[in-house]
Amino acid sequence: MARRRLVYEGKAKILYEGPEPETLIQYFKDDATAFNAEKKDVIEGKGVLNNRLSEYFMSGLNSIGVPTHFIKRLNMREQLIRAVEIIPLEVVVRNVAAGSLAKRLGMEEGTALPRPIVEFYYKDDALGDPLVTEEHIIAFGWASQQDMDDMVALALRVNDFMSGIMLAVGIRLVDFKIEIGRVFDGDFQRLIVADEISPDSCRLWDIESGEKLDKDVFRRDLGSLTDAYTEVARRLGVLPRTG
Ligand code: C5P
Repeated sequence: MARRRLVYEGKAKILYEGPEPETLIQYFKDDATAFNAEKKDVIEGKGVLNNRLSEYFMSGLNSIGVPTHFIKRLNMREQLIRAVEIIPLEVVVRNVAAGSLAKRLGMEEGTALPRPIVEFYYKDDALGDPLVTEEHIIAFGWASQQDMDDMVALALRVNDFMSGIMLAVGIRLVDFKIEIGRVFDGDFQRLIVADEISPDSCRLWDIESGEKLDKDVFRRDLGSLTDAYTEVARRLGVLPRTG
């Protein structure tokens, strides 16, 4: 097979030039990283699971009218996506205190939040993705006021959809991160969900046992990451065929 042109290689994914203009091929690697890549490993099969799971969430979002970059899955590790201009922010939505919020504010992990909280982090590995406010985002021109409103609305719709899907299979959506990109129809700009939605970018706790079924299993050495992600895929009925 002719080698495709590599457009971008990140920690867990590679983007290649797509077959049509304005498309890309997103390849899911098995690499796992945490703490800004200070902790690294290769977890066999993770890329296959995340490809399937991201397909499942993004195609579900597309079908209820929440626009995403997902077009179709191509094979075990690749999907065809729309090219977007990524906004350099990580948009985090939290339903329950955990991770950096619990640490920053001295809250006990597991405390339910009075309402979903949307946070923005500036995507910059060298700075460790610092938390930023709307003031920074607008002052530095990363997004407009209209973009801010659209990003919050998009993030909260994703939260409602994902919380519902997870609740139906006995999982609490504690928090998650999305990335958002711009697409242009002539002069008209729209914001769509990009990157991936998978257990790499969510916190997922079993409602009954509290067991963690997400990347914290890797971050905190709690057992097999593949087993955790396979359990999420099994409950959702999206287990990949082997081979
Ligand atoms: O670490 P923190 O508590 O801020 O993470 C919030 C959520 O965002 C978690 O679900 C985590 O997996 C996700 N996240 C991510 N990529 C990052 C930082 C956080 O997917 N670089």
